Amino acid sequence: MDRRIAMKAAAGIIIGGGAGLFTLTNAFKPEVQSAEKPQKLDYKPDESAWKYARLDPVVTAGLAYNYYSEGSCMYATIKSVVSQLAEKFGEPFTSFPVHLFKYGHGGVGGYGSVCGTLNGAAALIGLLITDKNVQDKMIADLFRWYEKEPLPAFSPNTPAYDYFPVKSVSSSVLCHASNTNWCKTAGFKVDSKERKERCRRMTADVTMKVATSLNEIFENAYITRVQTDETANACLTCHGSEGKVNNTAVKMNCNSCHTESVGHQVFADIHYKMME
Ligand code: HEC
Ligand code: HEC
Repeated sequence: MDRRIAMKAAAGIIIGGGAGLFTLTNAFKPEVQSAEKPQKLDYKPDESAWKYARLDPVVTAGLAYNYYSEGSCMYATIKSVVSQLAEKFGEPFTSFPVHLFKYGHGGVGGYGSVCGTLNGAAALIGLLITDKNVQDKMIADLFRWYEKEPLPAFSPNTPAYDYFPVKSVSSSVLCHASNTNWCKTAGFKVDSKERKERCRRMTADVTMKVATSLNEIFENAYITRVQTDETANACLTCHGSEGKVNNTAVKMNCNSCHTESVGHQVFADIHYKMME
């Protein structure tokens, strides 16, 4: 930083008190980590027994909506895709233990952690895509979309429960936060039929999204959307792998859990500048 700006700012702090501190803080602000630009994601499928063939995203979403009653969100997401691939390819899909994924309901056995349909979609990416770097990018795209998109949007042909849920923005990939957020917006209890219908439709939404992503990656037409989260990017400038504090490994929306403390607002920039 320019020494003169620093001096002026330092003078400001003495003369202007609080206002000066503000100037000083701004003068020390690091350049925010720039968002990754959307780009084509290259993936060369290798020989795998777990083949893929284009699926109709709307049909797949409808299947997920229907399977929901058999085993809830994660199970329904997995079964909607695996059952269609089993019809096309037979084994090993026919023997795939879809029952396993009932564990994912309610954020893993009702524990309220990661949303089950997201967990299911990520598992499908893990099953069908062998490159870990490609998996990570696709998962981040999907999760960030889920944090930001007003959902549910899916409209079933034959609703299991005739109620059209209001949409909410979850701001979180956690079952607990996503659900409770919706309950506050919609005014229903978490164990209501309305909330369950909301999750059922969201299962269809996420399934539609992951089927679309899988079609695109196998057709060599996948563009990383990197739905940027400016706040997270700003935080990660200092706390992420490129930053000096480098004490977090997280891509989630930070604000869903952290509010910036006053101390942080005032001192983080200066402190950061002075750090090794
Ligand atoms: C300019 C760099 C910078 C940015 C940007 C930044 N921080 Fe920090 N943060 C710091 C520093 C420096 C500390 C003190 C770390 C230490 O002493 O180990 C800190 C501490 C923290 C702490 C722990 C204690 C406290 O003061 O609350 C949390 C939590 C935190 N930051 C979260 C965030 C979040 C969330 C964001 C984005 C809204 C963010 N930070 C943005 C530099 C930064
Ligand atoms: C699901 C909730 C959640 C989300 C989302 C989250 N954090 Fe945290 N974070 C925590 C918890 C819990 C801790 C443990 C200690 C605490 O409460 O400060 C923590 C700790 C931290 C600390 C260390 C604090 C210290 O005292 O040293 C930093 C820095 C931090 N988080 C930054 C971030 C950033 C940046 C993001 C977004 C990219 C983020 N967090 C997203 C829950 C969360």
